[in-house]
Amino acid sequence: KTVRIIGVPLDYGADRRGVDMGPSAIRYAGLHEKLRQAGHQVVDLGNLPVPVPESREVAQTNLKYLDEIVKVSRVLARAVEKAVEEDAYPLVLGGDHSIAIGTIGGLVRHFQNLGVLWFDAHGDYNTDQTSPSGNIHGMPVATAVGLGHPALQASFHGRFVNPAKIVYVGVRTLDPEEAQALRQSGTTVFSMHEIDRYGMRDVMAKAMDIVTDGTDGVHLSFDIDAVDPLYAPGSGTPFSGGLTEREAHLALELLAESDILSSMEMVEVNPILDEHNRTGQLAANLIASALGHRII
Ligand code: ARG
Ligand code: MN
Ligand code: MN
Ligand code: MN
Repeated sequence: KTVRIIGVPLDYGADRRGVDMGPSAIRYAGLHEKLRQAGHQVVDLGNLPVPVPESREVAQTNLKYLDEIVKVSRVLARAVEKAVEEDAYPLVLGGDHSIAIGTIGGLVRHFQNLGVLWFDAHGDYNTDQTSPSGNIHGMPVATAVGLGHPALQASFHGRFVNPAKIVYVGVRTLDPEEAQALRQSGTTVFSMHEIDRYGMRDVMAKAMDIVTDGTDGVHLSFDIDAVDPLYAPGSGTPFSGGLTEREAHLALELLAESDILSSMEMVEVNPILDEHNRTGQLAANLIASALGHRII
């Protein structure tokens, strides 16, 4: 594949500063070599321009930095759309999870029926009506199915993801109203309970069935906080009881083996909260696994 890397040093969507350094941390961990070893061509577009939050004012609404996020989403969506049009594989490095609004917004302009695999401790299914924080990184999945504030949906050009083609893996904490909305959403949630009970191998088999059936593309959105903080200490909203490092690798190796992904993003790596770039390294290794890197 020709992997086209797009860095998005954006932290408007989260409370803790530092996730804007995620793209650097993941690159520094040797991402390019690992992908070349796996047999891919790598083209790195660098980072999109994102002004630092200190140069802006936060309007005290329940959609913090709405205008800034909408602007960056628009540019990102176009870059992602262009990549898939040119037969490249978009690899988006965040940044907080609000960047998925731009990534998926770009993808739905190209793919008629997109499947989405969402690895996360969280549901990211809040809207401005339900969010307890006003942080937009808690809203990208709701946005992708057409819920919430219309301004956030600008990148989608009126085409949204079918909730029946969205599968979560690793969820273990939801806000009360978010949980209620998610229950009625038509998405599939493989929480930690299902992973404990059936094992990652069976969960991934079911997940892959759902996202490939009737779809013309599959996007992987990987929030590093899906992995337990024991292995991924560098993220802003950690929650215990998560995936082990090996479970995460297995999941992504199974995806590589079936070769179903058409794009991927890795988000929420926060080097300021990290221990000697352990989380950045984990993120780079997981991306490599999803793109077929093998020891032997
Ligand atoms: N549910 C919480 C909120 O809406 C946390 C969201 C965390 N999202 C993330 N991408 N880490 O604020
Ligand atoms: Mn197009
Ligand atoms: Mn999360
Ligand atoms: Mn998330």
